[in-house]
Amino acid sequence: MKKIRKYYYTAVLFLLAGLTPLAAQQIIAVKTKNNALVLQVNSAKEVNTIYFGEKLANDTDYDKIAGQYHQGNDYTGIYNSVYTPSGSKNLLEPAITVTHADGNTSLDLHYVAHKTTQAGEGVSQTEITLKDPVYPVEVHVFITAYFENDIIEQWTTIKHAEKGMVTLNKYASANLYLKGNNNFWLNHYHGEWAKEMQPEEARLTHGIKVLDSKLGTRANLFMPSVFMVSLEKPATEDEGKVLFAGLEWSGNFRTDLEVDPFNNLRIISGINNAAADYKLAKNETFTTPKFWYTLSNKGKGFASRNLHDWARNYKILDGKGQRVTLLNNWEATYFDFDETKLKGLIADSKNLGVDLFLLDDGWFGNTYPRNDDTAALGDWDVSKKKLPNGIGTLVKTAIDNKVGFGIWIEPEMVSPSSNLYKNHPDWVIKQPERPEHYFRNQLVLDLSNPKVQDFVFGVVDQLFTENPELAYIKWDCNAVIYNAYSKNLKANQSNLYTDYVTGLYKVLERIRTKYPKVPMMLCSGGGGRVDYAALKYFTEFWPSDNTDPLERVFLQWEYSYFYPALTLSAHVTDWGKQPIKYRTDVAMMGKLGFDIVVKHLSEGDLAFCQQAIKNYSALGSTIWQGTQYRLQSPWGNDAASVMYVNKNGNEGVMFNYSVNNRYDSGTHNPIKLKGLEAGKNYQVEEINVYPGKKTSVTTAVFSGDFLMQVGINPNVNTTNTSVVLKITRV
Ligand code: DGJ
Repeated sequence: MKKIRKYYYTAVLFLLAGLTPLAAQQIIAVKTKNNALVLQVNSAKEVNTIYFGEKLANDTDYDKIAGQYHQGNDYTGIYNSVYTPSGSKNLLEPAITVTHADGNTSLDLHYVAHKTTQAGEGVSQTEITLKDPVYPVEVHVFITAYFENDIIEQWTTIKHAEKGMVTLNKYASANLYLKGNNNFWLNHYHGEWAKEMQPEEARLTHGIKVLDSKLGTRANLFMPSVFMVSLEKPATEDEGKVLFAGLEWSGNFRTDLEVDPFNNLRIISGINNAAADYKLAKNETFTTPKFWYTLSNKGKGFASRNLHDWARNYKILDGKGQRVTLLNNWEATYFDFDETKLKGLIADSKNLGVDLFLLDDGWFGNTYPRNDDTAALGDWDVSKKKLPNGIGTLVKTAIDNKVGFGIWIEPEMVSPSSNLYKNHPDWVIKQPERPEHYFRNQLVLDLSNPKVQDFVFGVVDQLFTENPELAYIKWDCNAVIYNAYSKNLKANQSNLYTDYVTGLYKVLERIRTKYPKVPMMLCSGGGGRVDYAALKYFTEFWPSDNTDPLERVFLQWEYSYFYPALTLSAHVTDWGKQPIKYRTDVAMMGKLGFDIVVKHLSEGDLAFCQQAIKNYSALGSTIWQGTQYRLQSPWGNDAASVMYVNKNGNEGVMFNYSVNNRYDSGTHNPIKLKGLEAGKNYQVEEINVYPGKKTSVTTAVFSGDFLMQVGINPNVNTTNTSVVLKITRV
């Protein structure tokens, strides 16, 4: 009787809250334009994934799927759990593991209710409430579906009402389940400094493949969280079933890809739990980061284009906006500059025709001058020796020259040779009893500490307060976390990796509340940090310190699967042996900048750059906001080709780069264009032609049909290494 009354009251409460109480074998379907993620509540109240794939015509068909598989016995019925608990009957990799306040390590999660609400135009949010029947632990699984873009985001909240702390030993964001026949191909990335985004593809075998990071801060140095899984066979640009995914988290992550005993793929992704048990107090809510994914039945290009649109619409700061071209002084001067030199470079920025001058590392530090990378991080006072009149005079010179002024900072870090380190040793992440270990001669500040958060916010705030016209920030982050220990966290040391990142987001949130629009570049000693949580605060990121344009063709190609061109900072530098035209043409496929000594340019090179910058500005919105087509891969071909078409379809640009210097290499065949209308005509015109040189492609009009069926030969070879073609609908 008591039980019935309890159920009755619970049901009434759910109805009042707009939630749906349990009905046996209930189906929860999350749909996007092309796909459906279908969950089922079984009779034991477990929520399992029964389908994730192309939408079926009849909803009633989802129920029949399971019966068509004879893959063996699922001994426990939850291999396909939407959020697999551990310590009860689960035998595979869990999404969540906890230690209760009384030391017990078992968890079971039962369906309580679910609801789906509109979270914006074309965006739905499904929330499923799960509870442990024995312990007062509650998990909410959130699934947000962006209908038009076929993107789903998934995350959870975890809460308990136990007397004392519950330890979260594992606390993933999402737990996907893909039916298959042991035929999954994982494409993931590894890297190092100047070698970011190196792809590797292999068929997954039974057991668990783990993609992860334990670096703490510049978490993507060795591996980013983004990956692809092709189903049945490796997908190509335009064919095949492929899942793209990544975690929106700027710290340690872990993704388990487990081919289970029955040949299906379980994907569990979230914050890395290595050395990161999380102590959760009673009634506190832990929110896991969002895990995004998209499934394409038309190859990688389709997945990528959906992702770009979604990212520009919902994720990237000012994703629908403009970007600035700039001249950076890092490689032009390194630490060796003074006011006169910088004023000269500001004048060079104007002469070159870029929008902004960006002052890099080395402008601060007096007690410990920043003349190399061994000192002064943390002491953000302007160097009196190098810049006796402060930053203000540089900002003014920039304004007089009609260019913006931007500045480099690395506010999360501290040099042991600094006043900050001497005055606040307790703000530094380091083991009290162990020798310090440095990464680029520096240590990391403890962002779990609110006082440190105030300090880091203050670095940016002071710069803007003193220089309200400041137009750009480059935010660097070079050190990893060694000797993880926080004076601030006392007994909860293993919360550090997580609290560091949430502390960072708190600072960025404050910065964006006060300075919502100023462009900021996310840099991390190259491409050590980029994800869609960070890009909420940044307009662009630095993909790599490797600016050799040949390397950049490959790097930018790989990044372009996951990030649209307006986020990919690409600077023309003196790396590599290629002519200025090749270097500029390569940088133009991303967000163009320069890091060269303009005065060293020959007359022809300068004239070329000036013209190229004008072309870039004119084509900017097509490159930043257009639809990207990767036409020919640099891998295995003599030339790579990338194209952008604006959303109106009346303008496009095609970048072609030689990537092979061997005898007779070049584009012997035409390259087929994409994204045009077959029945319309287009003028094809070569731009970025070096002064005094003949064009390699004569301006002509072709039908869209011809350009897409036959293609055009950009005539790239070992002496004509890059060709940029502008496509205009006539
Ligand atoms: C690492 C960055 O990647 C470089 O672009 C430059 O800003 C240096 N740091 C400055 O120390």
